[in-house]
Amino acid sequence: MTAMFREAIERMTPYTPGEQPRLGKRVIKLNTNENPYPPSPMVRRAVVKSAGSSLRLYPPPRADEFVGAAARLYGISREMIIAGNGSDELLAMLFRAALGPGDKVAYALPTYSLYDTLAAIQEARVAAIPLGPAFAPPLSELANQHARLTIVCNPNSPCGTIAEPDGLDSLAQAIAPNLLVIDEAYVDFAETNALHLAKRHGNVAVLRTLSKSFSLAGMRLGFCFAQPPVIEGLLKVKDSYNLSRLAVTAGAAALADAAWMRRNVELVKRTRAATEKRLRQMGFEVPPSQANFVLARIAGHPMDAIANALRRRGILVRHFPRSVFADALRISIGRPAEMAALFKALEPLVKPIVAAREPANRPGSSRALKQ
Ligand SMILES: Cc1ncc(COP(=O)(O)O)c(C=O)c1O
Repeated sequence: MTAMFREAIERMTPYTPGEQPRLGKRVIKLNTNENPYPPSPMVRRAVVKSAGSSLRLYPPPRADEFVGAAARLYGISREMIIAGNGSDELLAMLFRAALGPGDKVAYALPTYSLYDTLAAIQEARVAAIPLGPAFAPPLSELANQHARLTIVCNPNSPCGTIAEPDGLDSLAQAIAPNLLVIDEAYVDFAETNALHLAKRHGNVAVLRTLSKSFSLAGMRLGFCFAQPPVIEGLLKVKDSYNLSRLAVTAGAAALADAAWMRRNVELVKRTRAATEKRLRQMGFEVPPSQANFVLARIAGHPMDAIANALRRRGILVRHFPRSVFADALRISIGRPAEMAALFKALEPLVKPIVAAREPANRPGSSRALKQ
């Protein structure tokens, strides 16, 4: 039988999105790094206002109102911004524009696994570089690859660690004129960002999303900052009307109320600090996170059973069974009450594992003998 699609598509493994239970189902959802707090009330007002007869008409192809709001908020000219249907779409455009069959793309391992999917679609060669000590992004090893496209997810998922802007600056210089994409999906929860590098270097594209800090995952809004030649290249591969009218106005309203976003970010960061502390007390290794999630690991102990047990109790967390972090859970930061429910469910599951690993409790140790 002849295959219906290109061989690369027939062969590839599809991306697996995190589970999205139907609305109204009572679960504690800590699996896809959404914001536990609602978007600005200005978003609702803007959407209601634009949900009228203007929907007869196609939306503005370059999402002008949204791009204008981003230009104002970030102090960057409109010519340096392109809007996407989520930053996933911008990633797809970047892969499509930069990579043909056999071209090399480099990124850390592990990182956001959509990069693998997009590389497979383009039939690109992947240089997946293991994270450094303490899960640090492997910047100098990435520089040595001289790939046609290099991506740094910063902060990185699933570990929440971050590369400092100076390191990214050097990476951009080392690989020029090849493109460096800095995926800053989680950067509003971090202490630094690399937006200025898009102004400084002609080969840097910085991606942002409204899905996390602005609480708008359901609206599908992202943007890319880069110098005009990069933006012009991306416009060539963009769908004509990639953002709906509702998304354009919602995005503009959200960006106009950045103070709302910052308040929510502060709440999430406070809960993140408490979560890291509590998980470490339970015996997990938790790298300090600069994102709205934490990675909780017990080295060498697969987490399938714990993830499934939590699921049965109505708590969804992310688990990556076939990765180097099969021994970890990625836990999105929810509201304090949601995290309290997680701790209550998790503690009895993890206690016997931690106890069994403590040298003092192993058979033959002096403490174990005394008991
Ligand atoms: C690192 C990273 N980049 C991009 C995205 C996609 O975000 P969006 O919702 O804007 O498509 C995600 C979503 O989880 C992500 O984790």
